Amino acid sequence: MNERKELWEEIGTSEAYWAVATHDKFRASNLNSDLKEDFLASGREHVNDVWQTFERLLGNELKPTRALDYGCGVGRLVLPLAERCDHVIGVDISSAMLREAAKNAESRGLSNITLQTVDEFIADENAEYDFVHTYIVLQHIRPAIGYAMIETMLDRLKVGGHAMIHTTFVDKSPLFGRIRARLYRDVPGVHRSLNLIRGRTLPFVPVYTYDLERVRSIFRDRRLDILDEREIDHSVVGRMFFLKRS
Ligand SMILES: C[S@@+](CC[C@H](N)C(=O)[O-])C[C@H]1O[C@@H](n2cnc3c(N)ncnc32)[C@H](O)[C@@H]1O
Repeated sequence: MNERKELWEEIGTSEAYWAVATHDKFRASNLNSDLKEDFLASGREHVNDVWQTFERLLGNELKPTRALDYGCGVGRLVLPLAERCDHVIGVDISSAMLREAAKNAESRGLSNITLQTVDEFIADENAEYDFVHTYIVLQHIRPAIGYAMIETMLDRLKVGGHAMIHTTFVDKSPLFGRIRARLYRDVPGVHRSLNLIRGRTLPFVPVYTYDLERVRSIFRDRRLDILDEREIDHSVVGRMFFLKRS
């Protein structure tokens, strides 16, 4: 389950913010407190949007007691979730990301957040949540592992609970770019060597696509109703699923 941990430790140490919002202004060398606020504001907007969607679909207020944010990074979404839920558990493979998330939570005086590594999350077998959330994370995890993580998250979702699961399904980028990305992703050392030759330092962030029917069957097998689904086109096309465990 800790595949690519080294890569995410490296990214979390060198370019934690850029890895989430891949714009040059969020590179470590450019980051200042105003940009950090912009970055965190984008997380608040995302959570507001998820809330509005659920509340419109349900026709009532969503007020989870124990929420999970899987792949929480520096806490961009954990912080606004902590303002809306009694308790939030943020999980990440990278302890460097989790350290930054802890700093962000502390600087906002939020004490209802627990941060866990993936190993701690997996070991927490009896954990239950009434809200499960993961956004722009599964796309970076090899599907064989990602399907198992979706299953684990949803097995722990309480009856009556809600989930927003996002992952990617179709890569629409041009053929050459797709082949190059596969090479960087699947052949060890290629991207690192090119970086050395070109004097660049940016790490390569792998992206995978999932099988839509397999993901739907995970929902079906766990008796989850798809309340709504929304396509997200970031050149690799994904979907946000809004789910309820009846
Ligand atoms: C693009 S960032 C998104 C962070 C956060 N969800 C957000 O939207 O701000 C992807 C995050 O997934 C984490 N990640 C990568 N592989 C993971 C895995 N197998 N399990 C848990 N987290 C993982 C990375 O460390 C990184 O923090």
